[in-house]
Amino acid sequence: MGFKMGTTSEFVGCLFLSGMLLCMAQGNVHYYEFVLRESNFTRLCETKSMLTVNDSFPGPVIRVNKGDTAYVTVHNQGYYGVTIHWHGVKQPRNPWSDGPVYITQCPIKPGSSFTYEVIFSVEEGTIWWHAHSDWTRATVHGAIVVYPTVGTTYPFPEPDGEEVIVLGSWYTGDLYEMEFEYLSTGEIAPASDAYTINGQPGDLCKCSSESTYRRLVDYGKTYILRVVNAVMNVEMFFAIAEHNLTVVAIDGAYVKPIVTSYILIIPGQTMDILVTMDRPLGHYYMATRQFDNVDKLPTFDRVNATAIIEYRGNYTPPATPTFPSILPSYEDSDAAKSFTVRIKSLADIEHPVDVPINITTRMLITSAANTIIYPDGVSSLASSLSNISWANPSTDILLAYYRNISGVYTPDFPDWPLYFFNFTGPVVESDEITSKGTKVKMLNYNEQVEVVFQGTTVFDSPEDHPIHFHGHSFYVVGSGEGNYDNVTDPPHFNLVDPPYVSTVTIPLSGWVAIRFVANNPGVWFWHCHMEKHLIWGMSTVFIVKNGGTPETSIRDPPPNLPTCSGFTTRIQRLGEVNKSNMI
Ligand code: C2O
Ligand code: CU
Repeated sequence: MGFKMGTTSEFVGCLFLSGMLLCMAQGNVHYYEFVLRESNFTRLCETKSMLTVNDSFPGPVIRVNKGDTAYVTVHNQGYYGVTIHWHGVKQPRNPWSDGPVYITQCPIKPGSSFTYEVIFSVEEGTIWWHAHSDWTRATVHGAIVVYPTVGTTYPFPEPDGEEVIVLGSWYTGDLYEMEFEYLSTGEIAPASDAYTINGQPGDLCKCSSESTYRRLVDYGKTYILRVVNAVMNVEMFFAIAEHNLTVVAIDGAYVKPIVTSYILIIPGQTMDILVTMDRPLGHYYMATRQFDNVDKLPTFDRVNATAIIEYRGNYTPPATPTFPSILPSYEDSDAAKSFTVRIKSLADIEHPVDVPINITTRMLITSAANTIIYPDGVSSLASSLSNISWANPSTDILLAYYRNISGVYTPDFPDWPLYFFNFTGPVVESDEITSKGTKVKMLNYNEQVEVVFQGTTVFDSPEDHPIHFHGHSFYVVGSGEGNYDNVTDPPHFNLVDPPYVSTVTIPLSGWVAIRFVANNPGVWFWHCHMEKHLIWGMSTVFIVKNGGTPETSIRDPPPNLPTCSGFTTRIQRLGEVNKSNMI
């Protein structure tokens, strides 16, 4: 593959994580070249031009060992400004290379390049990368596989083979136009036209069976599937006909093995799954379909995307591969819940948990869909956290914070909703209105934080929200239905082996509680990983202050940071959507 330039060894140095000083031994350094440009792709009988990295959809896989560093030079040969985010990579002290547009950097302009320094520390397993400006992440994404540190092994027998499985969304239309349309009309997000497995919708879709993704396997061998949910707006069920799945890691951290016939994977989430090829020689579908727990959506994408597992050997394959009859149906929320509750950290001697116990900052944050009324009286749909709908500034927050530039953001994101109501009770119309703000939450270094995310029925639009943090993973200590109760719920928290993840769902009309240590100084975006809600404002920022020593402080900025002058992202360029800084 042409994109990988080389690998060298170098001493990476010491990192402060979980309050401990971890000195990495030799970490390797890798160099990648990402060329972003438009090229033609044909799916579902239609051809369109779209932005990808190195002309591939999904994009190239980055492979490193735990503790390595990758320098990725992004050459933007597209028409608009773009940024790339390394999803699930904590980037200790290095928010400069995190990527979300207007949060940690300005867009990389067309015709220019920027080199990201991607620092791997505690992650082990599968994570991923994707564009973090406009809706370009639909086509600009790929997997990152982090192998154990050289000289160490997996907490399970070494698999015989590996397969990266990226689940994606396919839109026949132009994403820039759809994004513009969505923002300017304030209407419901467009449903995708298909889902894809490694870029292909598969046999059940029109004009697709020739190109269905196929993988040859050997009987008796165990493969590790590296599954990424890169779809734009929905949670997905996934299964392989007649084969059990054993989930061993989620979001780049090991979990207690979950033996299951299907998984539910939420937007942004990644899973490592062992599969033993122990069925009669034959062809088997792996299949994925949307989980839709909001039955009032006018349309949703009912496509079942498939790929084929083909056993090697001498046999006559059936006319059609076997379909996973176990794949839960679209509205099976019991199947969704019963999978999710099984996730626990591995929590063994080599992979201990370190759940914060002496909480110093507590927050309760509500999520909602809303109406926003602009000064000109025009109203539109929006979404919010604690009834604040995020407005991107016109220059990035990180540099403003680092250089003490005022007027870019305000440090007043509230610890509690400004007023309490029956969050999951009957709908009250007055709760519906929100307003824009660029409010961030400041955290002291090493603060032990507990956040309860409370879903709401505001606007009669309860929905699951897959919340994703940059810069930190967190422990999911509890969750439940209805309103969180700070007296009766905490005694049930799991402080022994809670999942350690960077993405978690706020359940529809329910709550979820997380804990983390703010030990990574920087400016860290967090948001709903459904693109339709992110762009409506369901996001905000944690700024973790420096800890007082060089090793606990943000590093110096790299050279050649892009600036926000000149034309930038597509939506900004279109200018029309300037109803108070929607993006
Ligand atoms: Cu994959 Cu800001 O996210
Ligand atoms: Cu959401």
